[in-house]
Formats: sequence, C-alpha cells, structure tokens
Amino acid sequence: MNLQLNKIKQLPSNQNTLYFVNNPKEIEKCGIDKKEAAFITKKYPKEKVETFYINRYGYWIVLVIIPEKNKIESFVMNEYLRKEGHKVSEFLKKNKETLINIVGGKTSKDSILALAEGIILSAYSFKKYKTKDKKAELSKVSVFHNEISANELKELSNLAESVFICRDLVNEPGASLNASLLASTFKEECLKAGIKVEVLGKSKIKTLKMGGLLGVNQGSFNEPTFTIAEWKPSGAVNKKPIVLVGKGITFDTGGLSLKPAQYMEGMKSDMAGAAAVFGCLRALALNNIKLHVIGLMPATDNIPGQKALAPGDVITMANGKTVEVLNTDAEGRLILADALSYAERFKPELVIDIATLTGSASAAIGKYGIVGMQHNAKKHIDNLIKSGFDVYERIVEFPLWEEYDKEIESDIADIKNIGTSRNAGAITAGAFLKHFVSYPWIHLDIAGMGFMDGTESYLGKGGTAIGVRLLYNYFKNKMSQK
Ligand code: BES
Ligand code: ZN
Ligand code: ZN
Repeated sequence: MNLQLNKIKQLPSNQNTLYFVNNPKEIEKCGIDKKEAAFITKKYPKEKVETFYINRYGYWIVLVIIPEKNKIESFVMNEYLRKEGHKVSEFLKKNKETLINIVGGKTSKDSILALAEGIILSAYSFKKYKTKDKKAELSKVSVFHNEISANELKELSNLAESVFICRDLVNEPGASLNASLLASTFKEECLKAGIKVEVLGKSKIKTLKMGGLLGVNQGSFNEPTFTIAEWKPSGAVNKKPIVLVGKGITFDTGGLSLKPAQYMEGMKSDMAGAAAVFGCLRALALNNIKLHVIGLMPATDNIPGQKALAPGDVITMANGKTVEVLNTDAEGRLILADALSYAERFKPELVIDIATLTGSASAAIGKYGIVGMQHNAKKHIDNLIKSGFDVYERIVEFPLWEEYDKEIESDIADIKNIGTSRNAGAITAGAFLKHFVSYPWIHLDIAGMGFMDGTESYLGKGGTAIGVRLLYNYFKNKMSQK
C-alpha cells in the first residue's frame, strides 16, 4: 500500500486540512475568515452530513459538518462518514492532491476513524496492467486528535492494506492467477505476516479423496490446490479454533454447463471468498489478535476440457457421500463441501464459509447485502450480523428449514448438486453444504457483493474484499467478550 496513515501532534500550516464540525460555533475555528464562516453557518445542514471545500490556492480547507443534535444512530453515522470520506477522496484525486490532515476536534474517535477509513479504502485502484496511468494518488493521511493513538491508526492501516491485497487478488485475471499461483501468493503473504501455511497439491488432494475438488478440476489443464493457513498466537483466548473456509474458483466458465458470455465476464472474481479468508487472517496476524483461527482455501478453475465432469456424473466426496452432478456450474458447493469435511479434524468451535456461491443470492439481495445461513450457530450468527452493521457488510439470515432438504434428493446418488425447482437457489446450496458439517456452522453467500460493475462508494469498482472487514470486526468483538 502506497498510503501512509499517521498521527500528528502539531498541525502543519498551508496544507490540505479537514476539520470536523459538530455545531455552528466550531466553524470559526477552522482557519477561515468571518465572511466564509457566516456563509457556511447559514447553510448548516439539518439532516445530512455535508462537506464544504474552500480553495486557498495552494491547499484546501475542508469542513465535514455533522448536523447538530441529530438522532442518527452511531453505526449509521459511521457509514455516512465512510461515504463522505469517499467523496473527499474523490475530490482530492480530481484536484491531484496527495495528502490530507484530519482535525478531529470534539468529534468522537469512532467517527473520525470511520471517515479516515472511507478516505483510505477509496484510494485503491488496480493499475497493474495500465501502461500509461500516472494519475496522482493519495499518499498520506494524518490525524490530529488526542484520543486516537498511533496504534489505532496502525490497526486501521493494516486492515486497509489487507483489503487492498484481497482486492488485487480478486481483480487479477483468471489466466494470470490459476490455483497454483493463487496458493503460492497466499503462502508468500502468510509467511510474511507470521501465519503458518501449507499448500496441498493434486497428489495430496487425491490421498484425501476430495472428489468434489478433483471433479471440478477434472477438465482443467491447471492443477488444484488446497491451502491451509493457521494463525495461532501465543496466549490465544479460545481453546477450540474457529475455521474459515473460502471458495477459490479462479475462473468459473460453468464447465460443460457453460455460462453465457454476459454471466461469465466477472467470473475471475469467483475466488473472492478464499481471498477474503486470507485477507482476514492477515489482518488478525498483523494486529496480533489473540484468537486461534484457521483458514482453508480450496482452489481450482472451472473450465471444460476433454476430461471434464459432465452433467449426470456421480462423484464421491471426501466424507464418502455421493453426489450426482446435474449442473457443472454449481461447482462452488463441491469444492467447499470437501473443505468443510476437512475442517472437522480441528474440532472447531465454529466454522464460517464465505463464497460467491449463487446468482440466486445476488438476485435476492442485490449488491448491498450478504445472504447468511446457519446450522447450530444461532448465537454466533447474531453476533456476526451485529458486526455486519458495524462495518456495513450487512447480512440477512435465510432459513435452512429441513423441508429444503427434499430439493436436493437424488434418484441415483445420496444428493444432487442443484435443487429440483429453480426457486430458493441460495438456500438449496446451503442445504447441500449442510450435508458436510458436523459442528456449529455459518454460511455466507457473497455473490451480490464480491465484485462491483460500477463504483460503489468506498467499496470501489471490481473486487470489494467483502468479508475482510466483517470477519475482522467479528473476531475483535469476540475477543472483548472473552
Ligand atoms: N459463481 C457462480 C455464482 C455467482 C453468480 C457468483 C453471480 C457471482 C455472481 C456459481 O458457481 C454458479 O454459477 N451458480 C449457479 C448455480 C446453479 C447452476 C444452481 C447459479 O447461481 O446460477
Ligand atoms: Zn458456477
Ligand atoms: Zn462459481
């Protein structure tokens, strides 16, 4: 990350400076003259956060104004401020400005951090394949506020950097990031962060009889991988680990059940779940969060070839169950299932899987939410939903009622990989995965949020790294509850 976030104890003069304002009386203290102050006071917003930009020819004074005595709940206000941060970031970019000092004033620590987070997360762009793009980039954000420590800023910066690495992986084309390359990137980055990591190749995957992962990989010229990453700090407060499982389809053509072109376009992002698992672990490690967490990332592309899995084929999964594969485009659940079976050996307190799993989840909730499901993990999902509101990676819980199990009964095998009716596709995918779990379990379908076609505020365009901030926040809250 080319962006520095630091604390300053003195405010430099003649530099871009952003002031928080909570009531009209504070306007005068923002280094502006009486006339300007009177003008802004007149326009003091009543309901929404608003920002004023004052040109000082050489630098800018920016006033982020919060409506007085507002009744906005703090988690909603934080999101408004992240979005305002995005606008400030865009403004700076447009004006080729590369630094900003933030003066917190009487604003709460959380609000200031939210605005800073919005600014920073908006500074991301994927430029690897641009040969000419030399646009100015934000390189320094400084915070001037007593209550915010250098450590807190370091924590935010580590988290943002993990988000950026995750986005880079999602944005990387399928051809330049096959399973082996994805796994070696995970390995390299994990080692740098002090995370123990092991990458299993095809022969080990065969020994483990992972028929789902091998089946999806069958048509491909690239080998599958299975990455196991473990963050086990000294003094971890949990006895049983929490396991994260991420879908790592490096490119999803649909296989022989080929996708139409318009649905295939964004499918380099079908490993967003695996990237999010890695991103979260990295942030936990860099910030030395005292929880034992294990990440499992099964990876392969889903590309048809002469040996490809065909609709109607029956495969045997790692836990011995047989699956009739009626649609090779429902491949994510096949690789996740084997990883979920693998998770059992850790005797986990909880397993959370995260995956761009179904178009149905995206159709149900669109780009503003995550579809969640749980089995024997009601308390856990309620906590996760709460974290979802904290970071605005919001989750809606869908049911896993036993009636849905009928949908995936197969005539010739134990289960089939699609529902009989086309309805409730996100849920039938969950019902499928339920066959492979034997512990408290949460399933997160991020198909709607993993990749944005247009700029979506501070989530940006392309890979969003959805899940990284969510899971990180969840673990931090969990720490404070222990
Ligand atoms: N990777 C896709 C799901 C997806 C769709 C992710 C849109 C992101 C955006 C998944 O592998 C898939 O193709 N699912 C099928 C399942 C169906 C055949 C039962 C789907 O949702 O259409
Ligand atoms: Zn698919
Ligand atoms: Zn897929």
